[in-house]
Amino acid sequence: MSGLLAGKRLLVTGVITDASIAFSVAKLAQENGAQVVLTGFGRLSLVERIAKRLPEPAPVIELDVTNTEHLAGLADSVRQHVDGLDGVVHSIGFAPQSCLGGGFLDAGWDDVATALHVSTYSYKSLAMAALPLMQPGGAVVGLTFDATKAWPVYDWMGVAKAGLESASRYLAMHLGPKGIRSNLVAAGPLRTMAAKSIPGFEKFEQTWSERAPLPWDLTDQEPAARACLALLSDWFPATTGEIVHVDGGYHALGAA
Ligand SMILES: NC(=O)c1ccc[n+]([C@@H]2O[C@H](COP(=O)([O-])OP(=O)(O)OC[C@H]3O[C@@H](n4cnc5c(N)ncnc54)[C@H](O)[C@@H]3O)[C@@H](O)[C@H]2O)c1
Repeated sequence: MSGLLAGKRLLVTGVITDASIAFSVAKLAQENGAQVVLTGFGRLSLVERIAKRLPEPAPVIELDVTNTEHLAGLADSVRQHVDGLDGVVHSIGFAPQSCLGGGFLDAGWDDVATALHVSTYSYKSLAMAALPLMQPGGAVVGLTFDATKAWPVYDWMGVAKAGLESASRYLAMHLGPKGIRSNLVAAGPLRTMAAKSIPGFEKFEQTWSERAPLPWDLTDQEPAARACLALLSDWFPATTGEIVHVDGGYHALGAA
């Protein structure tokens, strides 16, 4: 086996369509020598169908990341396919509609709590559920959308991402002594199912296309996926608690 991830065993969450960032990660990882196990949420038969489009059909384990029984059983389910894990990809986000599209001032706690549970706390839950299978050199990678700023229409999802970015730093602190890294990729806007569920998402699309220093393709998940692979690989052995921007350079600019 050859490639950047030769011999690595990965758990990849978050595939729902072939436009999912997680699908690109799984595809590229397989092409680069990794063995991939997927998790799917809810529509399992759909995820299984999408999984067959990968270069190697990948097994799919059911995981609702807010379900404590699913989390408790995850390591045993993964063990049926691979004998350990070198990397875990968290590519999960969800917020009820009230939390998005300008509803910041009116969203109630129950909806906000759902957004934080699925999009923020789950980063820690997933890592802990996979930890029994991990060894020094292992890596956890998640996806964020630059949470250092308040964006139009992103609202409580932005708060959830700010929490995710902090949670990744805390995970880096707590898992560092075990030799396990935690890093995030801050992707620019990409047309996925999650993005399309944000009312007014086209505002991001327009500004990115106009302002990002590098040309930005809203339908190309591969640059973000490549960064995930790099962070999962042995080429960032001393990097943890980091956020790598894959946004065409948008974050580096000020407004004028
Ligand atoms: N698309 C973008 O513009 C963009 C930009 C930056 C970051 N991100 C982040 O990338 C990640 C992946 O999103 P995507 O854009 O590929 O969209 P996507 O819709 O393809 O993926 C989101 C995934 O979250 C899963 N999910 C939702 N609730 C879950 C739960 N309770 N348990 C387990 N899984 C659950 C869905 O099943 C889906 O597979 C998310 O964290 C998202 O916030 C996306």
